[in-house]
Amino acid sequence: MSVLVTGGAGYIGSHVVRLLQERGEQVVVVDDMSNGVADRIGGATVVEVDLASDAAPALLGSAIAAHDVSAVVHFAARKQVGESVAKPARYWHQNVGGTANLLQAMEDGGVGKLVFSSSAATYGAPATAVVREDGPAEPINPYGQTKLVGEWMTRAAGRAWGLRAANLRYFNVAGAGWPDLGDTAVMNLIPIVFAALAEGRAPVVFGDDYDTPDGSAVRDYVHVHDLAAAHLAALDHLEADERPFDVFNVGTGVGASVLQVLAEIRAVTGVDVEPEVRGRRAGDPPQLVADVSRIRDTLGWSARRDLHDIVASAWEARPGAR
Ligand code: WQD
Repeated sequence: MSVLVTGGAGYIGSHVVRLLQERGEQVVVVDDMSNGVADRIGGATVVEVDLASDAAPALLGSAIAAHDVSAVVHFAARKQVGESVAKPARYWHQNVGGTANLLQAMEDGGVGKLVFSSSAATYGAPATAVVREDGPAEPINPYGQTKLVGEWMTRAAGRAWGLRAANLRYFNVAGAGWPDLGDTAVMNLIPIVFAALAEGRAPVVFGDDYDTPDGSAVRDYVHVHDLAAAHLAALDHLEADERPFDVFNVGTGVGASVLQVLAEIRAVTGVDVEPEVRGRRAGDPPQLVADVSRIRDTLGWSARRDLHDIVASAWEARPGAR
């Protein structure tokens, strides 16, 4: 028996691979290695393929049969909001097409359990700061749309052939569970600030005139190690529970502003972070924080690490630190 992890060589996927390996599970990684790093996945078997390619169905089918796959964790996707606005077709092709190929292979191979990487981007610009899974999901960019469609695809597969899926809506993932598994991309606030510090530039704050306690935008930063643990809790839940489809926010339930994150970075690094305040970034909601009651009550999962742990671990794992 094994667990197949698509995108397992990526930043979040590799944390799940490591936790699965730590508890003695066999892992098969499917990754096109476009952002993946082979060193991150220990001794896991790797099938190198783009999930959305014509070659994927046959390769997935043979991997499922050869490794007796019993469950899938599906990360492989494009995940840059700005790029999705500029190249929407690419996002529909990769994210929706890749998920379609995967679901077909799972149906054909008789694999009935899936943990799907969804996103808080499915909420768009919500009317409330704290969002619940049963509230409106109105994504405002193609990236978020492809994630919401992915959730719908897993629900349809549940109705059609009995797939059981846990869809995890990630909030702002950061930090590193191990120093060799840091986020190598410079796409989100904390890595962007670290890159600015490394180059002696002032970090930028997009907007200090929001209706928030200090005027900067508030997000729910969740430690990648906690997030990875949520996937194992979801797999265990699928093992034990008969519900065909569920959606869970994965956050801490606690918001932190951009200025609070910068203050924590200053505390951890000792570097005097004097930011440059610019105008608001287009499409940014003022506040986005998870209501975490469903995942706590259903999966028994809660985040254990706080903003300090996130920043300190990200700093330890930053490019060039090792
Ligand atoms: C966080 C806050 C910025 C950079 C995105 C996606 C979301 C999910 C996570 C994948 C915002 C501010 C940022 C900077 C800043 N992705 N900021 N200066 O936009 O909340 O979420 O990543 O699933 O779908 O939308 O994350 O890290 O870009 O920004 O002030 O140099 O930091 O405006 O308020 P975001 P982020």
